[in-house]
Amino acid sequence: MSTSPPVVVVGSIMQDLTFACGAFPARGQTVMARLTVGQGGKGSNQAIACGRTGVDTVFVGAMGRGAYAAEVAAFYRRERIGCRLALKPDEPTGTAVILLNGEGQNIIVIEPGANARLAPGDVPRALLAGAKVVVTQLESNQATTAHTLRLARRAGATTVLNPAPMRPDFDPRLLRHVDILIPNESEFVALVRKLPRIRRTKFAERALHAMSRDALHALCRLIKVPTVIVTLGRRGCFISTQSGHESIPAYRSLKVVDTTGAGDAFCGGFAAGLVRHKGRIAAAARLGTAVAALSITKPGAAPAMPTLAELSRFLRKTARLARRAPA
Ligand code: RIB
Repeated sequence: MSTSPPVVVVGSIMQDLTFACGAFPARGQTVMARLTVGQGGKGSNQAIACGRTGVDTVFVGAMGRGAYAAEVAAFYRRERIGCRLALKPDEPTGTAVILLNGEGQNIIVIEPGANARLAPGDVPRALLAGAKVVVTQLESNQATTAHTLRLARRAGATTVLNPAPMRPDFDPRLLRHVDILIPNESEFVALVRKLPRIRRTKFAERALHAMSRDALHALCRLIKVPTVIVTLGRRGCFISTQSGHESIPAYRSLKVVDTTGAGDAFCGGFAAGLVRHKGRIAAAARLGTAVAALSITKPGAAPAMPTLAELSRFLRKTARLARRAPA
């Protein structure tokens, strides 16, 4: 049986059509924009983010008809990151339309296309044998995500689910196979609202912001996944484990160009951190936070993920500044 690299990311790959406009159009309004075509998809973005940190990674996903598959395979070869693409000739390749405003914020609409056809058979057991960390999201086929998490657990890997995008047909039973759950604020709110005790209340993001750390930790514990990491954008992330909670601040004063894929950058960097720091969650989350911080300083999703050299330079510089800061 062949052994997989330490990180296996199973999920979506998209062609991103990014329309950069000064301000988002209002309903019924037409605005002018500049179009860039680039590589995206939450799964692939996470694999690139992880692989670029120097941790051996393989991405498993599905492509549709057209020449894009060859382009993607060449990109992965150049990056020296493993990729295994199942071809679904009856489907279009997944496509995302991204509106990007002048502040680097986005609105995204996706057509999953071939991603929805990623089948359990496209993720054979041998692909996960030897993996330390297996990362999934909700942008491809949910049954295949469940199958992947189940196999990964059996193979002894740490299983990670980034529940993005949260979907109306989300099956909470998936959480049984998850060791580490990484939702953003809106995904966390959606998950909490599915809990039997909360279902009828009006729990919203505003309530989340007003909450004490202890209360947030108690809420995370109700989800019944050993580790929950809520990413909080500019406020960093909140880690809740069975033994307590901790907050990791975000890096400040970086110029925001494009926030597309920042959550993916965190997940990819975090997976790499788990391998580098031998499963230490807080240290891994710190690496994820640094990868995410750098990703928003460049345009695009996958192409904006920092290289190992950029990351090392950034970490050295921030460590130097922290040493100089008054106590
Ligand atoms: O998370 C960002 C990604 O979401 C984009 O690259 C786009 O493809 C959508 O999947």
